[in-house]
Amino acid sequence: MELATPHAPADASAQASRGWIRVENLSVRFTSRHEEVLAVDDASIEVKPGEFVTIIGPSGCGKSTLLNVVAGFIKGNDGCVTVDGVPVDGPSIQRGVVFQQYSLFPWLSVRQNVEFGLKMKGMRRFARESSARTLLGLAGLLAFENHYPDQLSGGMKQRVGIVRALATSPQVLLMDEPFGALDAQTRVVMQEILTNMWQRFRLSVLFITHDIDEAIFLSDRIYVMTARPGRIKAEIKVDLPRPRTAEMTSSPAFATLVQQLRQLIREESLAAMGTELHDGALGGFATEVGPGGVCNIVNG
Ligand SMILES: Nc1ncnc2c1ncn2[C@@H]1O[C@H](COP(=O)(O)OP(=O)(O)OP(=O)(O)O)[C@@H](O)[C@H]1O
Ligand SMILES: [Mg+2]
Repeated sequence: MELATPHAPADASAQASRGWIRVENLSVRFTSRHEEVLAVDDASIEVKPGEFVTIIGPSGCGKSTLLNVVAGFIKGNDGCVTVDGVPVDGPSIQRGVVFQQYSLFPWLSVRQNVEFGLKMKGMRRFARESSARTLLGLAGLLAFENHYPDQLSGGMKQRVGIVRALATSPQVLLMDEPFGALDAQTRVVMQEILTNMWQRFRLSVLFITHDIDEAIFLSDRIYVMTARPGRIKAEIKVDLPRPRTAEMTSSPAFATLVQQLRQLIREESLAAMGTELHDGALGGFATEVGPGGVCNIVNG
């Protein structure tokens, strides 16, 4: 049976030796008519084969820009981005991408969405149906193969998105806040499904999130970016055993990592949001509003 390669256990070690992402001294500038924005400044990161690496940082610091360069959607101005030593010069099915917004084709059924990339690769109908059904089964979605995206919950849509990205046997999976739109409970379940699938497929994942707990739960290593222009401020190794379990999130080791990351990110978030917070919103805690409410302040 012509299944997509990562499903075959014999391929697992070969797969694990591929997918080495290297970003070296990357800078990205956006130029509009009025201004030039330095979005990423001299950033270097690495995702080793089979590793799960997360980038975290304040809003607007350049995380998506960096990921989009690795995806091949945009080009950097300086520096070098390679996957397995080959410079990235455009999108490739070797690099699966999952975004926060569900990017399923609404006119295709769940299975047809998953089959899409396989069809583009020229896989025959029976083989691609079979591959799609195997993958949907792994994600607990087989019962929904003939549903359409608008009949699915957000969590299900995102699971289909992940399955679709995995269907073409990519070497790397690039995920830009894939669970950002989901409620907290669904998010936790999705994290477990993702780690489960990542362990089976042994691919390299570059993941972006704002959520510190999510970053720790999922990752082998975490890069913290500075406020814009985004530089790499810190690299944190997550030495928790695999497979990760929900109980680990209440362990002292987990709490220490949370504290460390919270401190690093808070400094950058304040920098990103500018001095108005010091002067206004945060300083405002010193102002007593009192039981009369805001009228007391307005009327003196
Ligand atoms: N196509 C573009 N043209 C001009 N400026 C852009 C473009 N894309 C991004 N930027 C700017 O580059 C900076 C980095 O944006 P980016 O989307 O990478 O940030 P981010 O870290 O992903 O933010 P968020 O956490 O809010 O998603 C921002 O200031 C943004 O306004
Ligand atoms: Mg972003």
